[in-house]
Amino acid sequence: MTDVQHTEHTPVLEVIAAKKIVPVVVLDDAGAAAGLADALLAGGLGLAEVTFRTAAAADAIAAMAARPGMLVGAGTVLTAAQVDRAVDAGARFVVSPGFSPAVVARCQTRGVPVLPGVASPTEIMQALDAGLDTVKFFPAEQLGGVPMVKALAAPFRSVRFVPTGGVSTENLADYLAIPSVVAVGGTWMVAPDLLAARDWDAVTARTRAAVEAL
Ligand code: 3PG
Repeated sequence: MTDVQHTEHTPVLEVIAAKKIVPVVVLDDAGAAAGLADALLAGGLGLAEVTFRTAAAADAIAAMAARPGMLVGAGTVLTAAQVDRAVDAGARFVVSPGFSPAVVARCQTRGVPVLPGVASPTEIMQALDAGLDTVKFFPAEQLGGVPMVKALAAPFRSVRFVPTGGVSTENLADYLAIPSVVAVGGTWMVAPDLLAARDWDAVTARTRAAVEAL
């Protein structure tokens, strides 16, 4: 399968839903960001969520977003200040592990799509109250995996899910077979040992395998 082509005007959530797999990146050194972006692109996936778990996040977002064909967002965004740093660096979407009204409000003020993490019906209702229709379901496997997503999707028919946590090439098709699931996320293509070793060939191979599993 080839990567879907989009223009800069295609809505970001639509691009994510078309690409279907969100590599979740933890990068200690922004100097590796351009090489990582090229490795993902070579694997057929011009998409990344760069997490604010490291001090390199903002610089890494800027470096990856500069690569043509890359759509780059920020992950593990916990505060409104991090929303600003992420968007200023070029993040086109924001992901949180949980639902923070402050993070969601700042994203809406900055005009950037936000995917808050939810783990329960109550959190989904908070997201709906905030005017959102797409959420990260996190941590997906640990919370019950595919049957849990189906159970949550039943009452919330307008909600779209991006399960993340414990997803891999082996189970991604099971999640994506659920009509409410628009994409899945995870670190398996960009595992910390591969990034530490700058093993771009392995990143490309895992990314290609994931794309082919779609
Ligand atoms: C995340 O923050 O989305 C998770 O760390 C991804 O989980 P995984 O490492 O199990 O893919």
